[in-house]
Amino acid sequence: MDWGMKNRLSQLIQPDGRCLFLPIDHGYFQGPTTKLEEPGKTIEPILPYADAIMLTRGILRSCVDPAKTKPVILRVSGGTSMARKEELDHEGITTSVREAIRLNASAVSMSIFVGSEREHQTLLNLSNLVNECEEYGIPVMAVTAVGTELGKRDARYLALACRIAAELGARVVKTYYCEEGFEKVVRGCPVPIVIAGGPKVDSELEVFNWVYDALQKGAIGVNLGRNIWQHDYPVAMAKAIRAIIHENATPKEAQAIFDKIKSAKS
Ligand code: R5P
Repeated sequence: MDWGMKNRLSQLIQPDGRCLFLPIDHGYFQGPTTKLEEPGKTIEPILPYADAIMLTRGILRSCVDPAKTKPVILRVSGGTSMARKEELDHEGITTSVREAIRLNASAVSMSIFVGSEREHQTLLNLSNLVNECEEYGIPVMAVTAVGTELGKRDARYLALACRIAAELGARVVKTYYCEEGFEKVVRGCPVPIVIAGGPKVDSELEVFNWVYDALQKGAIGVNLGRNIWQHDYPVAMAKAIRAIIHENATPKEAQAIFDKIKSAKS
């Protein structure tokens, strides 16, 4: 692996081999998502606990102070919106590699929609992006997207999507956690896997359980947004999840960290 590629990956994946990526790219198709109406304000208190942020160039330029930030994973795909939910798989590449370099991105990220009508188009998008990024030593993180079909998130589907992303050259794959068979998803994917959280759930312990179990089964970390920044106590969530990832805390210990911070705040 080239020095530049290694260096960029090591900005994202910490010396313990793990990572906590904070995605705030949701607006690229959802618009001003709840609690992300002002992304700069949302991330300010939680940024210290993230290893990297994932976002689009527009939000990076307008909402993030270049002097006070973390390594950037630049979302470079899009071109769809929730106004046409049935066409969420119709993504193209929106941001050039030259722009990613100008913005000093540590990695770029894009979605593939395996099993959708435009599967082929999104897989070629990934292949072409990898071809170009490898020239410059920029890692590509593939996002195994399901659009609104959240029910698709079972081990068989996720294993298929993750393996294809790795085969096409992604250096990291972002996917979803599934309770049954997640170890098979990891085993079939020769590059590191991080998990997303999906829509916010009611119980923080549920999130701690996912993260812990995913790590036990071989994921290297998370790319987890709404279950942190849509929570009423985002800093407590970020610190507790960070403890699971970087300090091997159990879900129970993470809950204790969360409760302590919450009660100090209340
Ligand atoms: C989807 O909108 C984005 O790719 C997010 O970065 C990804 O889904 C992770 O965020 P969350 O944990 O909120 O699902």
